[in-house]
Amino acid sequence: MRGTWNKKDLLSIYDLSAEEINMILDTAAEFKKVSERKVKKVPALRGKTVVNFFVEPSTRTRVSFELAEQRLSADIINMAASSSSLKKGETLLDTIKNIEALQADIIVMRHSTPGAHDFISKHTNCAIVNAGDGAHSHPTQALLDIFTMREKKGAIEGLNVTIIGDILHSRVARSNIWGLLKLGANVTITGPATIVPKEFEECGVQVCYDLKEAIKDADVINLLRIQHERQNSGFFPSVGEYASVFGVNDEVVEKYIKKDALIMHPGPINRGVELDSSVADGDQSVILEQVTNGLAIRMAVLFLVSGGLNND
Ligand code: CP
Repeated sequence: MRGTWNKKDLLSIYDLSAEEINMILDTAAEFKKVSERKVKKVPALRGKTVVNFFVEPSTRTRVSFELAEQRLSADIINMAASSSSLKKGETLLDTIKNIEALQADIIVMRHSTPGAHDFISKHTNCAIVNAGDGAHSHPTQALLDIFTMREKKGAIEGLNVTIIGDILHSRVARSNIWGLLKLGANVTITGPATIVPKEFEECGVQVCYDLKEAIKDADVINLLRIQHERQNSGFFPSVGEYASVFGVNDEVVEKYIKKDALIMHPGPINRGVELDSSVADGDQSVILEQVTNGLAIRMAVLFLVSGGLNND
């Protein structure tokens, strides 16, 4: 493996170099082999304590982090915000300082406030791993998406990736855009203008408001969930109208996309909105393979931030 890992935390893909992203992907490829073995466990994090602290709901990210920690032989504590002393008015920083006082090594956190992880990382010696912060960043989701693209297509450089949907409220979109551009992909975003701001062109992506034009040359089509919980006003007339203009159905797949284009979605899916069930469960969908790869990516991230390479 090339390069050295010298970051305490994983806060955002924005902070990573192309070399660091590739180091995570290469490490994940090795850990994916562990999950394919009869005995799916290695002692890489033996003696380390990981606290999973999810202040927002999660299925895929929370379960795969916990499974990754088990596979690496860590000691694990799961904390839910609803049953923590945050409910009694304790600050986030005091919560983290108390977890540190109990000699945790790594804190995996999901929080609704953008930048919460950057703030606490400056005040603790624990490694902080961002499992999603508001609409800002979701680095392990982007890493597993990019890992899946690389595994299926061989390389990221020169790949045409189209992201469809609620870019404005999506930490997944931002993280994918940062990571894909660093690795040399061509990124197009599409959806209603109210949730796909033209200003994103300043990041180096193409903004296109015509679905068919946006997907015709795509090697990868990444569909995003309409995030009703982060929208405080109507960004389009109705869910039905969104589905009829930007939803991906059998007709779109048959007539307008390449036969070898990958259909991706970070989940959870709104079936019948971003995509029809026949597409989500169809031949070009790699949605569940993304979930499988999330385990390998999270094993790699935990290993690297724990100083795994340096302990060899
Ligand atoms: N993709 C994703 O972050 O899913 P969860 O919210 O279920 O973790």
